[in-house]
Formats: sequence, structure tokens, C-alpha cells
Amino acid sequence: MAAMTDIRNIVVLTGAGVSAESGIDTFRDAGGLWEQHRVEDVATPEAFERDPELVLRFYDMRREAIQQKHPNAAHEALARLDREWEGGLMIVTQNVDDLHERAGARRVVHMHGTHLNAWCTACDVRSPWTGTLIERPACPDCGERSLRPDVVWFGEMPYRMDEIFAALREADLFVSIGTSGAVYPAAGFVRNANDLGVRTLELNLEPSQGSAWFDESRHGPATQVVPPWVDEILAA
Ligand code: APR
Repeated sequence: MAAMTDIRNIVVLTGAGVSAESGIDTFRDAGGLWEQHRVEDVATPEAFERDPELVLRFYDMRREAIQQKHPNAAHEALARLDREWEGGLMIVTQNVDDLHERAGARRVVHMHGTHLNAWCTACDVRSPWTGTLIERPACPDCGERSLRPDVVWFGEMPYRMDEIFAALREADLFVSIGTSGAVYPAAGFVRNANDLGVRTLELNLEPSQGSAWFDESRHGPATQVVPPWVDEILAA
């Protein structure tokens, strides 16, 4: 396993906890999104088939809400890491907001898609989208009224898994930030990293479901634990 000073390639995984202090609800904390909405009603392909209006309204509200939010000190710190780290870096996010990018990070992979794209199921083209989808607008590319949110629903395959596993194979350090470890395949990355001999670190408000799998865990709000970790790794 690499010592801190031998680290060259880093994979960071982020979850809803990194955006919590920007005012975006997490999913599984008290009062989180999945207490307010049933997953089966709004976040599955079956739900979209059964009641497209309900699903589109839910995502329209989320898309509008995230555009009112701003990156916090944890997003800023990760953007600084992206700018200053000369080794390999992949920031894999489960978040569908764009706060990593708005903070300035570039090496970001959205494994669960993004609120700010609409995906046309007729022509398979993704278009940047900031407005609503409830009125079933035409696809800017093919004109069909077949747009859906470009987010990965339960039962669908997350995006860019081959690239993510390739980065994990090359990694010296895997850092998981603000994710409960409840949803696979992301929840399994720590065990993949362990199998590959990659050093692992968890930064989370509290011990996550996968805490025991990490070599090291640091607990606290992301805005307080992420910036000092970035300082440390850039100074090593
Ligand atoms: N700082 C750091 N961590 C925090 C903070 C904070 N300020 N606030 C909450 N957390 C932690 C919680 O303790 C919890 O462990 O963030 C985690 C959030 O967990 P979830 O709500 O389950 O979110 P996430 O892990 O991103 O969910 C994974 O589930 O429903 C799906 O597709 C959705 O991408 C999402 C996936």
C-alpha cells in the first residue's frame, strides 16, 4: 500500500454529503429526499412509464432548486486539488448537481448523470437543459417529444463504469466523501480498492455503512474535513 508521500493517482468519490452544506438535501439523512418521496414513485424507469408527469415534476423542481445553490468550501477545495495536483485524479460523483464544475473542477465523472442535461430516448442525444421537461418539449436535435432527465434511475446502469474501474486500478489512494455507502456499485468501490491494494480514506459526517472497510476515517462536515485533507495531500 502506498505511503502518503508515494501517492500519484487519486480517485475521489463524492455523494450527497458534499453538497449538503450548499443546501441540497441528501437522500437518507433525517428529512432527506427519500423520506419525502418514495424511490419507486419517482426514481425508476417503471415510475416514469406509469406516471411521467409526477416524475418530470419531481426532476423539474430539483433542476430548478440546484440552480439556486452555490458550491461550498468542500467543492472549492476539491477544485483546488484538481488545479494543483499534477498526478492522476478522477472525481467520481454520484451527485447530479453541477457544484463541482461550478467550483472549477474539471476532472469530474457523473456516474449517476446530471440534472442539467435532457436525454432524448428517440435519438439518444443529450442536450444541456436548464428549463422544465413537464410540458414534453421537442428534442433540439431530432424534434421528437421524447426527452427525459439524464439521471440514472434505480435499476439502470451507472455511466462510465469502465473508465472508473480503470482509474481505480491505477490509483494509489481512494477517498470517499459524503456518501452513505448504501447504493451499489459506488458503495463497493472501497472493497474494489482494498482488493487492488489501494489505500482508502473516508471523509464523512459520521461513520457510513462501509466505514469498516476504510484504512482511515475522518468524521465531520465536508466543509471542515475536506479542505484540511486537500492541504495535507498537496503538501505531502
Ligand atoms: N458533510 C459530510 N457528510 C455529510 C454531510 C456533511 N455536511 N451531511 C450528510 N453527510 C453524509 C451522511 O452522513 C450520509 O452518510 O452524507 C451521506 C449522504 O448519504 P445519502 O443521502 O445516502 O447520499 P448518497 O450516498 O450520495 O446516495 C447515493 O443514492 O438515491 C441515490 O442516486 C442517489 O446518488 C444517490 C445515491
